[in-house]
Amino acid sequence: MTRNRVEVLHGVNLDMLGRRDPEHYGTFTLAELEMQIKRFAVELGLEVRFFQTNQEGEFVEHLHRLPELADAAILNAGAWTHYSYAIRDALELTRLPAVEVHLSDVGTREEWRRRSVFDGLVAGVVSGQGPAGYREGLELLSAELRE
Ligand code: DQA
Repeated sequence: MTRNRVEVLHGVNLDMLGRRDPEHYGTFTLAELEMQIKRFAVELGLEVRFFQTNQEGEFVEHLHRLPELADAAILNAGAWTHYSYAIRDALELTRLPAVEVHLSDVGTREEWRRRSVFDGLVAGVVSGQGPAGYREGLELLSAELRE
């Protein structure tokens, strides 16, 4: 059975792309970003689905359902990355390979953005590469899924 289904989960405020600080997030919208991620996925032979919410509980419940929907996950949980242990626990429950992606370079911004609740749980972290970071995330997961 081919395992090639990747769920791309966007968390809080990612629906505001296009209106956020262009220095960190560029000027593209979430719909434009998702079109680009879809193209990367096609090139890599992966199937992608997208999910975005601003409600932490909905994000958690989507993770609860994820093992039935996907073989792997890319997460950009936005600010939840830095403090939501509920989302960390829900990701752990999925037992799916996951990669954390950030559009901006969280390591060179404010101190509080340097911490991630997903430490030790994800197969990789890609930060500061804009949309191209999602391609790298997909490549990492593609390698994981072939193992
Ligand atoms: C982000 C970085 C987070 O610190 C921030 O809260 C976001 C977006 C990024 O993609 O760079 O909302 O995850």
